[in-house]
Amino acid sequence: MTLTEPTAATPERTATSRSVLMCRPQFFTVSYRINPWMHPEDPTDTSLAVRQWDSLYEAYLALGFDVQLIEPVEGLPDMVYAANGGFVLDGIAYGASFTYAQRQPEGPAYMDWFEQAGFEVRAPEHVNEGEGDLLLVGDRILAGQGFRTDPASHDEVRRIFGREVVSMRLINPSFYHLDTALAVLGDDNVAYLPSAFDEASLQTLDRLYPDAVVVTEEDASVLGLNSYSDGRNIVIASRAKDFERQLLERGYNPVGVDLSELLLGGGGVKCCTLELRR
Ligand code: ARG
Repeated sequence: MTLTEPTAATPERTATSRSVLMCRPQFFTVSYRINPWMHPEDPTDTSLAVRQWDSLYEAYLALGFDVQLIEPVEGLPDMVYAANGGFVLDGIAYGASFTYAQRQPEGPAYMDWFEQAGFEVRAPEHVNEGEGDLLLVGDRILAGQGFRTDPASHDEVRRIFGREVVSMRLINPSFYHLDTALAVLGDDNVAYLPSAFDEASLQTLDRLYPDAVVVTEEDASVLGLNSYSDGRNIVIASRAKDFERQLLERGYNPVGVDLSELLLGGGGVKCCTLELRR
């Protein structure tokens, strides 16, 4: 093994163009509780959610992303969290099968969209919530379990995509999807909240990504990790100040957006974003 000399210079980061799927929160509200962030007894402001979502949409367009839209369905208030709609890689769309009845109709709705967009759709055999728990880092897929995604789906993903799939166990109900506890920064690095993972997962993360960014509980509590990177630009919650500082230090360009209204449903930037990889 060759050791690279540590350098004082900040590395130059390169962006690669991205294609993503989003869903306007036209019917967003919090009418049930399937994660600790959700309080159906409190009011939500749908028009504010739409305005904030628009700012994310505009940020992606400004970064030159190709942004595709799926039609929102009335009665599916969580459909805005497009990341959960599937996992798309190599032109294959592995469909989602949701844990809770309230979201189950979203699975077929997203699969229909993938089909019409020309993806090869694989109907899931096991419960999984798409990119919420399945994150591609370079050639490796990190797969979350513990609250939503059935570990049996990790094997299914390994069979379908023929990639290395590394399972991670989440232990804090507030960080119930992998994308709330871990952010993909580029092809070979991640950021995460250590307290969200069990001991074995922490050891694995430390072995795979010894130079990972460790975020504060405070930044994680505004879903700061729920961010989306093109390798250089990282769209994050504007309130995640220490995360922003760490990203700047490492040569990334953090782009802050405020999705406070969508946080009431337990989702942020990444939740609203499903990457489409042909
Ligand atoms: N209310 C949604 C749920 O609990 C939020 C989903 C957030 N999505 C995500 N990719 N983390 O299922």
